[in-house]
Amino acid sequence: MIKILREYINYKLIAKGRHGVHSPFVYDLLDNCLRKKVSQNVFKRFLSYKTQLNQDDSFIEVTDLGAGSKKLSKHRKVKSIAKISGTSSRYGQLIFKLVHHYKPETILELGTSLGVGTFMLAHGNPNSKVFTVEGCPETSSLAQKMHREYQTKNVDFVISDFVSYLRDYKGTNFDFVFIDGDHRGEKLLEQLDVLNNHIHEESIILLDDIRWSNDMQRTWEKVVSDKRYHLSIDLFKMGIIMRRSHQEKEHFVIKY
Ligand SMILES: C[S@@+](CC[C@H](N)C(=O)[O-])C[C@H]1O[C@@H](n2cnc3c(N)ncnc32)[C@H](O)[C@@H]1O
Repeated sequence: MIKILREYINYKLIAKGRHGVHSPFVYDLLDNCLRKKVSQNVFKRFLSYKTQLNQDDSFIEVTDLGAGSKKLSKHRKVKSIAKISGTSSRYGQLIFKLVHHYKPETILELGTSLGVGTFMLAHGNPNSKVFTVEGCPETSSLAQKMHREYQTKNVDFVISDFVSYLRDYKGTNFDFVFIDGDHRGEKLLEQLDVLNNHIHEESIILLDDIRWSNDMQRTWEKVVSDKRYHLSIDLFKMGIIMRRSHQEKEHFVIKY
């Protein structure tokens, strides 16, 4: 707790706004993407989606292929899953803004859970195709039911382990990837390695929970120093990496 507080204060002290950055790409991200508002209509529906889950007292049997929850057992109340692992409004808006601004056509989400992040990925660019992968059949099936109810049209729900899915994937390269699944550093690195065959120079990879544990934080630092990614951006809870090998390797800590 104290460590994360210290990290946050440090982040606040060093994070830059648009006037402190010289990279045109990052300036544009700050000025034309992060400062923009999410459409009221989408945001209202997003909040309603979250509220519905937060009030759901039913139980599901969870198969967790990842690090698992720090707090929950296998037989879980839907509302507890929603509260603990669902993307928050603040970061849901971040996902929406990124997808809305960069208009990726092919999107991948690793870790559907109840489909909260999926909602913003899908609605950020309704013309995209979103592939969302989840290892737990019961959780995915509830997410699918919710998305039918909310009439999301552009999502393919996949039930699979992440690495098997990526190894077998034969489609077009992903323009945008949201990784919010297995919170073990070595697993994240393995997923990034396999993912490397399915991204291009301008693909945006958004990583969630980069400070979830010491292990995740060390892994984030490794990823930042990885020569394959010439651009990395720290947004405190989430981080962005991109290949962009035509530019000098640069790391930014920016205000969000
Ligand atoms: C933090 S939750 C995802 C939250 C979701 N993105 C959202 O916005 O609400 C992580 C999910 O990843 C799934 N998961 C973890 N490791 C996995 C793996 N190796 N393969 C498939 N699914 C995995 C878990 O079952 C869990 O539902």
